[in-house]
Amino acid sequence: MGNWHHKHILTLSNFSIEDYKSVFDLAERFNSLNNAGTKKIPALQGSLITSIFFEDSTRTKNSFELAAKKLSADVQSFSPSSSSLSKGETHIDTALTYAAMGSDILIIRHSSSHIPLEISKKLDKLNLETSVVNAGDGLHSHPSQGLLDLYTLIKFFSPKLLNPKVLNSKNILIIGDVIHSRVARSNLWALTAFGANIILCGPPTLIPEEFQDFVRILPPNQLDDPIPSRGSITISRSLNDSIEQADGVIVLRLQKERMIENSLSSLSSYSDNYCLTPERISYNKKEIPILHPGPINRGIEISSRIVDEYPNCLIQNQVSNGIPIRMALLYLVSKINK
Ligand code: CP
Repeated sequence: MGNWHHKHILTLSNFSIEDYKSVFDLAERFNSLNNAGTKKIPALQGSLITSIFFEDSTRTKNSFELAAKKLSADVQSFSPSSSSLSKGETHIDTALTYAAMGSDILIIRHSSSHIPLEISKKLDKLNLETSVVNAGDGLHSHPSQGLLDLYTLIKFFSPKLLNPKVLNSKNILIIGDVIHSRVARSNLWALTAFGANIILCGPPTLIPEEFQDFVRILPPNQLDDPIPSRGSITISRSLNDSIEQADGVIVLRLQKERMIENSLSSLSSYSDNYCLTPERISYNKKEIPILHPGPINRGIEISSRIVDEYPNCLIQNQVSNGIPIRMALLYLVSKINK
């Protein structure tokens, strides 16, 4: 487990290479156990883990809850629609209520950025041992998704023995709605940490020029044999041009619910220019992996023919890989106070 020191997991911006390796080493072990048919291991027996999703989720919520159950933790699930939020209870008081019931870990999603951080600070101020794991906050961060995307790409490029260095100097193309995407921000931290060069492709309203400078702080690199340098970020407005150079592609969901300004003239013009189709992939002569964090908008950012027929479309692998990654995160966080 290396020198794991994160009581809370809020962002990947403070992850060292050693932190990533701790998560991946454990995820590989849990993956082997899951693949061998082991339904549960008693690692977190007696722990109480609570999922508090103030914003909707299919993948992240169920994957975290399944991960907790596979580790034999007791699992509580908060449902906003039947909660005392309707009586005016705040998100902080909701979290403190679950901490007072004895929750060891709160898994928190919120539509506003930094709510998990705010809750973690309150818990620390009260000297409570309860940890917070961010399951996606506003536009800010989705660390478990960033980790599982990184893990999925590394597994694709080094299927036999997981080798994180395999991403060094690979060109990873991220297409679409970067500005509204916490997944993209977590991907940028994670992929560049392993030396991948990122091409962001989309219109200026969804990818402003400032994203070129997104990754400015290098996390500490504690390994004897470190990845040589952080990867670069460039911006392209042409999907046909950028796809040619890609070794892997991450397509982002067009987040219509977060588009408060006029980000697009029309959905159809967006799709005409940026929807990933088999024809566009054919500009690239390699067998490149295609990822999408989900949920997908078929025919808007990605064609059904890619999702259903393209052999290297890894969307379902991402979902499956989320389970061992989240098992590893819950395990590491739960051991910090023990
Ligand atoms: N990728 C992702 O966060 O999906 P959900 O919103 O379904 O959790």
